[in-house]
Amino acid sequence: MISVEQNQFHLSNNDISYIFHVMPNGQLGHLYYGKGLKSGRDYSHFQTYSNVAPNTTHPYEARPDFSLETVKQEFPSYGKGDFRESSVLIENEAGEIRSDFNYESHIVVNGKPSLEGLPASYTQEEDAETLIVTLKEPSGLKLELLYTIFTNLPVITRSCLVKNEGGERVTIQRLMSLNLDLPDSDYDMLHLTGAWARERHVTEKSLSEGIQRISSLRGASSHQHNPFMALKRFDATEHNGEVLGMHFVYSGNFVAQAEVDHYSTTRVSMGIHPTRFSWSLQPGDGFQSPEAVLTFSSHGLNGLSQSVHQWTHRHMIPERFRTAERPVLINNWEATYFDFDEKKLDDFATKAKDLGVELFVLDDGWFGKRDDDTTSLGDWFVDQRKLPNGIGQLAANIKSKGLQFGLWFEPEMISPVSDLIKTHPDWVVGMNNRHQTLGRNQKVLDFSNSDVVDYLYERMSSIIEETRLDYIKWDMNRNITEPFSINLSNQGEFYHRYMLGVYQLYDRLTKAYPHVLFESCAGGGGRFDLGMMYYAPQAWTSDDTDAVERLKIQYGTSIAYPLSTIGSHVSAVPNHQTKRESPLSLRGDVAYFGTFGYELDPSSLTDEEKEEIKQQIHRYKQIEPLIRKGTFTRLISPFDQDETAWMLFDQEEGRGVVGWYKPIYSPNPKNNQVLKLKGLDRSVDYEVNGKQFGGDELMSNGLPLGVEFNGANHSTSERGGDNQSKIWFISEVDRGGVCDD
Ligand code: GLA
Repeated sequence: MISVEQNQFHLSNNDISYIFHVMPNGQLGHLYYGKGLKSGRDYSHFQTYSNVAPNTTHPYEARPDFSLETVKQEFPSYGKGDFRESSVLIENEAGEIRSDFNYESHIVVNGKPSLEGLPASYTQEEDAETLIVTLKEPSGLKLELLYTIFTNLPVITRSCLVKNEGGERVTIQRLMSLNLDLPDSDYDMLHLTGAWARERHVTEKSLSEGIQRISSLRGASSHQHNPFMALKRFDATEHNGEVLGMHFVYSGNFVAQAEVDHYSTTRVSMGIHPTRFSWSLQPGDGFQSPEAVLTFSSHGLNGLSQSVHQWTHRHMIPERFRTAERPVLINNWEATYFDFDEKKLDDFATKAKDLGVELFVLDDGWFGKRDDDTTSLGDWFVDQRKLPNGIGQLAANIKSKGLQFGLWFEPEMISPVSDLIKTHPDWVVGMNNRHQTLGRNQKVLDFSNSDVVDYLYERMSSIIEETRLDYIKWDMNRNITEPFSINLSNQGEFYHRYMLGVYQLYDRLTKAYPHVLFESCAGGGGRFDLGMMYYAPQAWTSDDTDAVERLKIQYGTSIAYPLSTIGSHVSAVPNHQTKRESPLSLRGDVAYFGTFGYELDPSSLTDEEKEEIKQQIHRYKQIEPLIRKGTFTRLISPFDQDETAWMLFDQEEGRGVVGWYKPIYSPNPKNNQVLKLKGLDRSVDYEVNGKQFGGDELMSNGLPLGVEFNGANHSTSERGGDNQSKIWFISEVDRGGVCDD
């Protein structure tokens, strides 16, 4: 609900309140964000006036107690006495900064408007309300701040639109999508960091004076820093206490930071990275910022994740994939790399089908003359040396076996050895006559150029139609260097226009072929963000398919993204990234908690392994609905202990699944060998892998893990050694749910 009284705006629902007001100088001041407060009251006293030191600047001579340096703001600008980092920096032709953005008007609308050209959350009318506040600058600039509050979730989204209604050209040099001024700095900042093959590890440190920042200048949201951060109160844990979350719905350069000032207040900002960003606005033009998402939890980090999961599922991924069952896939990459032909693939698919696989994905190497990673990106025509009967015929053969068919594309790239580069050298990012840096032997296509987007649309749609394609893995294997487009007069626009081109191609393809399931990928998880999820409901989480490594990667990823977005596959051993040899059971037990599949050669399996894989697929079919509809709870963190545990439970259906892992054994183990579950009904009895327990005992005493070998108890121990893992199916007894061990 949104109420506006006496210059005060109060957005609230059952969980949260977000309150701001118009300050004496006409700018917007922030009052409160957190657990819900009663509406209809005046909260203007939450603002901090009067704490003005003798050397503080103040915009009015008449009010020496009012300074922009000390007040909490909604949309701070630079150059008027607030010396913290601003939300906006807009210059006119003379180089003067435009910074007097004052309240002009507001409207409240049901639902949520879409953002032109950008991915953004969507709603049904009754799911949300949006407040649009218009600010005006004397020069004629207008700024619309959009705040959407969701009815049943502790989530607020924010974005802004700048319109140049003045008479001269201006340049936007900085525009943050989110600004949140918090009254203190008693928080730990949590974020997800990593690198190729070890994405989204959890990092936490206390805020202190200065700026603590995560960012990307790679032209992609990056493996290194995910565009998400959380601020946890010092006493907040996984399941208790207050946590604020911020996501950025964007896949390119970004910054997310917390600035603690000399009064120990915290300014959180999130937006497009201002480095190498400048946007020219001619009179009459507008610029729309991407959306930022603000979440709140008073039930710890896990509570925050659960809200974010539901919200992403309901308001971000394409609607169709909320209910569409996700297929169990097999991908040939690690099985064949570039070395395949029609016969090999046919055989591969036949064997995969026998195992129960539903979707066959042909990865890199089916186009141009691509026998290794040095050639052919851009030449999206089938390689007739490998597939002489064409890609359409291959797809038809695969489909005739009862499998769906998927293909790998890397649309944004071009190889220096390709036909495309001969015909369109001007389509490459960077200056033609200057050295262009290679990454994985490839260059980047200039997606800020609409001819490039049109070419890719034509190529991809023709192949989608020829193959009646069910699935696309959209990869992006290098970051952008020498950011320059031959077509732009302002190169500061390049990075963002590149992203708009990528989104446009996604938009056109997903609208034209809504049944195609897209899985985004960027050398594994280098573009794992909400911007991508708006089009691609799954993402390849990491090229690291090692089960032990995946515990950390999937655990970290689950903090900010739902399991239905987390691509997780069983691969061959020794693992190609780590050389580790984990048993098939551990590999499956970890991969169940995501969108499931295989990256291995079915011809290399023993009969025993084939049986085990058939059982895994059978099991996953029971887990799959929980991946989309269940509530995920993290129980034990691999970052804290040598064990990991998590569970999924669907309250409506009264059933769920629990996963527990202990990859490394150490002797003489702890005495209390139980796993405490969460989120069950204390008064209900549950069947867990064939045995009955009360919900109260499962949560208060725990689920017995079985006696562990301690070095001596040979006859009584039920488990021991390295690579322990266990899956339990759990269902309410009086619903007669089926449990499959
Ligand atoms: C990237 C992807 C892999 C695979 C290869 C193909 O590394 O992350 O899964 O598709 O490209 O070249």
